Amino acid sequence: MNQPRIPRKRTYLLCPPEYFTVEYAINPWMDTATPVDRELAVKQWHGLRETLLGLGHTVHELGPEPGLPDMVYAANGAFVVDGTVYGARFRHPQRTAEAAAHRAFYESHGWRFVAPAETNEGEGDFTYLPAAHGGLILAGYGFRTEPAAHAEAQEVLGRPVVSLRLVDPRFYHLDTALAPLDDGNIAYFPEAFSVAAQRVLAQLFPDAVRADEVDAFGFGLNLVSDGRHVVLNAEASGMAAKVAAAGYLPVPVELSELKKGGGSVKCCVAELRD
Ligand code: ARG
Repeated sequence: MNQPRIPRKRTYLLCPPEYFTVEYAINPWMDTATPVDRELAVKQWHGLRETLLGLGHTVHELGPEPGLPDMVYAANGAFVVDGTVYGARFRHPQRTAEAAAHRAFYESHGWRFVAPAETNEGEGDFTYLPAAHGGLILAGYGFRTEPAAHAEAQEVLGRPVVSLRLVDPRFYHLDTALAPLDDGNIAYFPEAFSVAAQRVLAQLFPDAVRADEVDAFGFGLNLVSDGRHVVLNAEASGMAAKVAAAGYLPVPVELSELKKGGGSVKCCVAELRD
């Protein structure tokens, strides 16, 4: 029998895809030859926003800026735990300026902001499970975030950070291959991780929902859960079935345009944990 899956109200930060394009390629999903339907992207993004609001969550908005087409992937701008914001420092010059926009948001809203010295892409490569082992940060490296940033995050946030090596360039951020389903449990695609990292995850999360390649390719791991409702890319129907079998409630959203930039639900949603 599955335990009851209890939702918890969340606060999120999103950025509308007003200037979204694929004009450079910094991950294997991006193809500058494939046209993007920006109107559809905006429509789909609004669908995601309405879904989160409909579930009773609070949604803040970050103003989009021209010339920063990836700003819609708001998860990359920072990582927030217990009211402290560990800022991002992007790997690619095309995204560098996004960090300042996020910083300005947090500072103007009274959050404690700590600027990073190390390269890290915020919630793209960091996630937090408050009820796992007393409060655990999981962190990815191998493509974007430097391992030195994992140590820096631990110093800034005062929680143990478990470093996980990503090995498949298609799953270049932790959040493309792993997501919390609630405060203590995760879903993940084992093959995106080194053999050693797979072993670490199996040890820490024996009840995890394991995804397969089809789920991962459909961006089914790039999900946002409130502990009960699992918002995920509509394409990932197999993943929806797996989370349903584990007692959660899948909430599919259509985000096909944003997949062209190499992201989906989670990439668009930063969680503000006070
Ligand atoms: N085009 C963006 C990049 O490659 C996509 C970022 C996706 N965000 C995420 N949290 N995985 O940087």
